Amino acid sequence: MNKILILFGHPAFRRSTINAALRKSVENLKGITFHDLYARYPDFLIDVSHEQRLCESHDIIVFQHPFYWYSTPSLIKEWFDLVLEHAWAYGASGTALAGKITFQALTAGGDFSNYQPDGLNLFTIRQLTTPYRATANLCRMEWLPPFAVLGIHQGLPKEDRICHAEDYRKTLMALRDNQLDLAKARNYELLNQDLNSIINEV
Ligand SMILES: Cc1cc2nc3c(=O)[nH]c(=O)nc-3n(C[C@H](O)[C@H](O)[C@H](O)COP(=O)(O)O)c2cc1C
Repeated sequence: MNKILILFGHPAFRRSTINAALRKSVENLKGITFHDLYARYPDFLIDVSHEQRLCESHDIIVFQHPFYWYSTPSLIKEWFDLVLEHAWAYGASGTALAGKITFQALTAGGDFSNYQPDGLNLFTIRQLTTPYRATANLCRMEWLPPFAVLGIHQGLPKEDRICHAEDYRKTLMALRDNQLDLAKARNYELLNQDLNSIINEV
């Protein structure tokens, strides 16, 4: 069984609808450590060695967050800046994260049509998250495309929220239990675009 670390970043969690639903569906799952970065570091003073030890003791690292300005909330960027040290995360002797699976679980106000070359945001979600992919590559991690819930600004009906939360839970359980076809998933635009085709039931 793989151990999964979810690094959660939401600066206004009390007002959250979708991240709250995603969080609720996975935080008590066996094998999952849910780490709320804004709750732990309200002053942005990240304990680097604690974070590095946490990463070292897990096999899969997920960054869950709302999409802010086509990127992450600022505490996650601070986390990258401080925690991914040379000779630990990257560089000739920096192999602490090598081989670990990583992806973003993000939620966005814009919908699928907004995230197209001819849409409002000009680029797809997969394209906009390439800095994260490049970071994972530098750290020799196994990158997967983002699990994304789009169209929040249109007001997601409760039934849709429940479906996305269930998909998130299924995705994490499949990864935890080595039941997700990584090679196939890597080529998808989004990790959750067709879950049935990448999850091998036993
Ligand atoms: C500061 C800020 C920046 C945002 N930037 C984007 C963005 O670049 N693209 C987008 O689609 N939505 C953007 N949004 C909308 C959020 O992604 C959306 O409100 C969030 O995913 C909803 O999740 P929640 O219900 O968990 O709060 C932004 C929201 C805020 C407050």
